[in-house]
Amino acid sequence: MAPVIDRERVEMKELADYSDGPSLISSELIQVDESPRVALAWDDGAHTALPPIWLRDHCPCDACRHASSRERLCKIIDIEVGVPDVSLDHGALLLVWPDGHESRFDGVWLHQRRPGQHQFQPTVPAARAWREGFMPAQVTHRDFTSTDAGQRQWLEALIRDGLVLLDQGPTESDEVTRIAESIGPLRATNFGARFDVQSKPNPNNAAYTAIELELHSDLPNWRNPPDIQLLYCLESEAEGGASTFADGFAVAEAMRHESPKHFAMLAEIPIDLRFQDDDHDIVVREPIIRTDDRGELREIRFNNWIRDAVDVAPDQIEDWYAAYCDFWARLRAPRYRADFELAPGQMIAFDNRRVLHGRGEFNPNTGKRHLQGCYLDYDMVESKLRVLAR
Ligand code: OGA
Ligand code: ZN
Ligand code: ZN
Repeated sequence: MAPVIDRERVEMKELADYSDGPSLISSELIQVDESPRVALAWDDGAHTALPPIWLRDHCPCDACRHASSRERLCKIIDIEVGVPDVSLDHGALLLVWPDGHESRFDGVWLHQRRPGQHQFQPTVPAARAWREGFMPAQVTHRDFTSTDAGQRQWLEALIRDGLVLLDQGPTESDEVTRIAESIGPLRATNFGARFDVQSKPNPNNAAYTAIELELHSDLPNWRNPPDIQLLYCLESEAEGGASTFADGFAVAEAMRHESPKHFAMLAEIPIDLRFQDDDHDIVVREPIIRTDDRGELREIRFNNWIRDAVDVAPDQIEDWYAAYCDFWARLRAPRYRADFELAPGQMIAFDNRRVLHGRGEFNPNTGKRHLQGCYLDYDMVESKLRVLAR
């Protein structure tokens, strides 16, 4: 088959790149189990056979997709689809429907988006469990703020490892907000949109004291805990207060492997997590480990100081505590942890649903310790990476 040299790009109302890829080399109407299919083949050997309804629903013409929003206008419920005439035209697929409607599809777009691929763009990296000795990738503040490559590197590490360090930033109040807002709107909580972590009089939260914070997730008492947390160090003169992190998914996987009964307890038995102060009483009943319907880990909710009274069946209480302490002991094991001190001008960012964080006790009489923090939605992190990859 001769290569298509005069390929015409069809406007698919799609911002991801489909300028280059395998050429569509054949199209024909076939019958599969007495149902019509549009059979397509590309010059890399890929092929598919699509029910006409899929193609009609994805028609990119101005009547079917809005020209500026790119959103779908076509309502498949109102269309008598039928069987189209099928041909190739300058490397594009041309369909003429029984009602006279014409659809043109870009051949590379079809290759990327043909059903069954489950991933049309490999832009967003897969999560990778930490190995022993893991330390987070570092990106300088200058690279992050002035180059797309720097921001991209930071976003990719955050998605892949669940933890990334920004280095050599200014020690200016609210820099954490400026960085977060370059990615997306802040996710506000009962602690505000931006919060100050320092020891305060009458603290309403353990973080606002000088005590050790063992590994935990933030706000697991919300239906939707914040996805990404940023913590920016402005001052760290006080003795102590080193940061610690653990890959909660790696710890949970090890427990699933080594003590499946304990894993099942934490994944199946919901408990109450609760924050209360004068203005709030925020409580949710969820298991500590959440898996999806394929058993994949989705979320860890571990925070000992806001765990409410344990309300599980009396004959399960001891087993539940055994499982809880097993998970906790694993979190404390050095092999899953990354420990280091944050210096002024450094910012740590992590996936609060996967990676647990904590800090050592510090002595506020030896100097100041001041971090500023805020939260972001994961959607904005992935979105920014897709935009940068265009
Ligand atoms: C917090 C927290 C860590 C620190 O504010 O939720 O965990 O290093 N702070 O103070
Ligand atoms: Zn159309
Ligand atoms: Zn915290």
